[in-house]
Amino acid sequence: MTDLAAAWTTLETAAQDARERRIADLFKAEPDRLDKLSVEAPQLLLDLSKQPWSRAEAQAALALARAGGIEAARDRQFAGQAVNPSEDRAALHMALRAAKGADFQAKGEPVSAEVDATREAMAAIARAVRSGEKRGATGQPFSAIVHIGIGGSDFGPRLVWEALRPLSPQIELRFAANVDPADMALALAGLDPARTLVVVVSKTFTTQETIANATVARAWLRAALGQAGDAHLLAVSAAPSAAQAFGVPADQIFGFRDWVGGRYSVWSAVGLSCVIALGPEAFEELLAGARAMDDHFRTAPLAANAPVLLALAHIFNRNGLGRPIRAVVPYAQRLRLLPNFLQQLEMESNGKQAGVDGRPVPRGTAAAVFGDAGTNVQHAFFQLMHQGTDIIPLDIIAVAQASEGEPSNQTKLLANAIAQAEALMVGKPESEVRAELTAQGMAPAAIDVLAPQKTFHGNRPSSFILLDRLTPQALGALIALYEHKTFVEGVLWEINSFDQWGVELGKTLATRILGELEGGARGVHDPSTERLVSRLKG
Ligand code: F6P
Repeated sequence: MTDLAAAWTTLETAAQDARERRIADLFKAEPDRLDKLSVEAPQLLLDLSKQPWSRAEAQAALALARAGGIEAARDRQFAGQAVNPSEDRAALHMALRAAKGADFQAKGEPVSAEVDATREAMAAIARAVRSGEKRGATGQPFSAIVHIGIGGSDFGPRLVWEALRPLSPQIELRFAANVDPADMALALAGLDPARTLVVVVSKTFTTQETIANATVARAWLRAALGQAGDAHLLAVSAAPSAAQAFGVPADQIFGFRDWVGGRYSVWSAVGLSCVIALGPEAFEELLAGARAMDDHFRTAPLAANAPVLLALAHIFNRNGLGRPIRAVVPYAQRLRLLPNFLQQLEMESNGKQAGVDGRPVPRGTAAAVFGDAGTNVQHAFFQLMHQGTDIIPLDIIAVAQASEGEPSNQTKLLANAIAQAEALMVGKPESEVRAELTAQGMAPAAIDVLAPQKTFHGNRPSSFILLDRLTPQALGALIALYEHKTFVEGVLWEINSFDQWGVELGKTLATRILGELEGGARGVHDPSTERLVSRLKG
C-alpha cells in the first residue's frame, strides 16, 4: 500500500466517528477549535470550524495532504511543468497575475514577457476606448461591449463584471454564450451598432456556439456599417489566425497560450471586456488579489493554508462521509454567479472517473455543486438543507461592508448568513419543539404528530468565507482560493484537473445530428434519438 493509499484509509476510517457526533459538541471538547480551524488569508477569513471534523480528523486530513505530496505538486505547477499530462501542457494561470517583470516558464519556455506585453496592449486599448480616442466606423465613441464566448470564455468575465460593475457605469457590458438565438437577440437588443464593440472570446476559435454567435454579431455590424463594421470586432484566442480569417483586424486580436485552461483564463486576455468596461486599474487590482492568494498558497504551511484546508474540508465530506453534493451560497447579490463559475471550475476540472495513470479512481471525485444568492435561496432550497434526508455541506460567502445601497439591509443580510450557518449546525431538538408546543397548550397526540415535523436535527456542516468588501482584490483572492483548492483536490484524487475529455462526445454527436436536422444523410441512432430527430427535422 502506498503512503497516500494508507493516508486515505486512515482518513476514511477516522471520518466514521463524525457520522453520529455533533459538530456543536466539538467546540466544548476542543477549546482551540475555532483558532485552529480558521485561517486569515489574503482578503478573507476562512472559518472551517463548523465542518464535521474533529481536530484529530483535521490532522488526519493534513496527513493525507502530506502523503499526497501537495507541496511538491504545487511547486511543479508553479514551475510550469506539464501538470496536464494528457495534453502535455502546463497549467500556469498564476503567471498571468504575477507582478510585472516576473520570470515564469511553461515547460521551460519563458512566458512572463509575453504576458506583460499582452497586459499592456489590453490596457492601451481599454484606455483608448474609455477616453473616446478610439472610435467606431462612424466616428462615434463606444458605449457598449458585447462579449461572446462560452464556458471558461464566459463565466469568469461575467462573474467579474457582475461583481464589480458599480466601479464603472461608463460602459455597458453584455454577454452572450448560448447558441439559443434568444441569447444573442437579448444581448444585441436596443444597442446601437455604431457605438458597440463585439469581443469574441474563444481559446480554440472553433466552439460551435461562439462562432455561431460571432457570425450573428458580425452580420449585425455589417448590416448597419457595411464592411467597416468589422473594425468593431475584437478577438481573444489562442488561435489568432482563425480569428483573423473570421475578419477581426489583426491589431485587435489578443492572444493567450495553451497553458491557460479555459476555466482558469479570466486573468488572461479573456478578461479583455472587463479591462475595457471596468478600466485597467481595476483589472490590475483583481490580478493583485489573486497574486496574494498565490503567494499564500505557495508559502503558508499546510495547516494554515486556506486553499489546502478548504480542499480537505470538502474531501472530508465527499470521501470521508460520502456526501456527493455541495451547495455554495454567496450572501452577496453581486456574487450570485459564483456558483455557476464554480460549477465549471470544480466539475469540469475534477469530474473524472479515470486517474492520471489511466486506472479507475478508487473513490468519489468532484462533488456536484449548486447554489445561488442568499437570502433568496432561503426561500427555495434551504428547506431541504435544514430538514431534507441528505446532508449537503454548504460554503457561505459573505461580505462585511456593502459598497452600495441601504446600509441597514446589509446588516440584515449578514444576520441571515450567520444565522443560517448556526441553525444548520445547532438545529432545534425535538425536546425543545415539544416543550414549545406543550406551552402553547397543544394536546399530546397532536404534539406527537407535529413535533417531528418541526424538529431540526442540525449537525449540517458549513464553511464561512468572509470578505471585508467586494473589491477587485478581494474577488481576485476569492477566485484564486477556489482555483487552488480545486488543484489540491485533483492531486489527492490523482486525476488530471486540467483536461476535459468528457465534453467531447456530446459535441461530436451534436455536429452529426445538426447535419441530419439540416437535411444531410441520416445516421444510425437508438429509437428514442431517432424519433426526436425525425420529429424536429421538419
Ligand atoms: O466546455 C468545454 C470547453 O472546452 C471549456 O473547457 C471551455 O472553457 C469552453 O469549452 C469554451 O472553449 P473555447 O474558449 O475554445 O471556445
